[in-house]
Amino acid sequence: MSDIDIQRETWATRAGFILAAVGSAVGLGNIWRFPFQVGQEGGAAFLLAYLLFIVLVGFPAMLVEFVVGRHTELNPVGALRAVGGGTWTYVGWIFIATGFVVLSYYSVVAGWTVRYAFLGLQDGYLADAAEAEAQFVSLASGLDAIFFHALFMAVVIVIVALGIQQGIELAVRLMVPAIVVITLGMAAYAFTLEGAGEAYSYYLSPEWGLFLTEWQSILPAAAGQAFFTLSLGMGAMITYASYLGEDQNLAEDGAIIIGFDTGIAFIMGLVVFPILFTAGIDPADPGAGAIFVSLAAAFGDLALGWLVGFVFFTTVAIAALSSAISLMEVVVSYVIDERNVDRKIAASVVGAAMFVLGIPSAYDLVLLDLIDLFADQILLVLGGLLLMILVGWVLPDLAVDELSRGIGDLGALAPAWIWAVRIPVVVVLIVALALGILEY
Ligand code: PFF
Ligand code: NA
Repeated sequence: MSDIDIQRETWATRAGFILAAVGSAVGLGNIWRFPFQVGQEGGAAFLLAYLLFIVLVGFPAMLVEFVVGRHTELNPVGALRAVGGGTWTYVGWIFIATGFVVLSYYSVVAGWTVRYAFLGLQDGYLADAAEAEAQFVSLASGLDAIFFHALFMAVVIVIVALGIQQGIELAVRLMVPAIVVITLGMAAYAFTLEGAGEAYSYYLSPEWGLFLTEWQSILPAAAGQAFFTLSLGMGAMITYASYLGEDQNLAEDGAIIIGFDTGIAFIMGLVVFPILFTAGIDPADPGAGAIFVSLAAAFGDLALGWLVGFVFFTTVAIAALSSAISLMEVVVSYVIDERNVDRKIAASVVGAAMFVLGIPSAYDLVLLDLIDLFADQILLVLGGLLLMILVGWVLPDLAVDELSRGIGDLGALAPAWIWAVRIPVVVVLIVALALGILEY
């Protein structure tokens, strides 16, 4: 190990840490993945399964990442070497690899959102579905896509290069309140639309019948979504918690972060569906690309749609940005801790490499979907699963000790947490991994 002569960076305030974690959690996963999965997987039945997994799987798993990060004050590789050692160190490597792969294409999709925000200000959106589709194909791949992918990655590099307090914390202090306020404003606007009533009943009415016939697809989808949306399984929460200087109540912080993520996801459904229904567009069409097409076509149809679309896509871009910085920080923290590289150089080199790795995705949308599936359903779940086994079964005492710093005596919370990690979380992740491998 290198001797560290410089004091490791920390968050300036407790709110800074919470906002950064909220910024990481609230992202592309909330804005299209979530509402559309609710729509496809049985409306309120999926919603209920999802909420169950958030509490039963997401919350305990988030606390695991927090304690590992705060205990070691290290990047994911260093952290896993410190608490597990030996072969467990490879789990840290899985996190780094996943973060690397995910940001490479996350940035491509984020680039589309920036492109689509500009589209509102320039030519406006096209109401005709076929034209909107053709437009998406031309904007989402090729040089246009590469340019916006590069632009987005450059902004991520700048924020991460500025460091924890001057870069990430400052950025999320501006971005997260903006996301919350604009999302609420858009929900109020969507409420006034003609298609709102129909949209709400589509979004919120339980179709219990679907739950009985489709549970095999609803359950893994809900579990996977719970993990992805909370930024788990990539070491992002380990990394952010490693910058906690002081002992704060991590259970309370986790609950706040999860509340924000779930709230924004839910409200986004109240925004997206009224817009689609009012424009007479079927929301059943899945996939990241299809959602760009249907929303853009809806904005093409609405009065002042260019403005609504501009605001919407700008919000999505901001949310994607605050998530992307956490993904880059996972890898950058490793390069700084383990290779003794200056933060600015680390951010530039890592960002440039991620940009290059994303170029194939910016040319080939089928490839992008394939990489997304591999990263989400296999890499992320595998890394998450191994960490839960390590902490739940091998290191429960260390974990309980660490969680109690800043809380005091955990009482019944300690066994409840450890047993949640040991059985439900591990089982859900094993099933999700098996299904993910089958699907792949
Ligand atoms: N939680 C983010 C979302 O919902 O879009 C995605 C994400 C960001 C996952 C950062 C993992 C991560 F480390
Ligand atoms: Na999320």
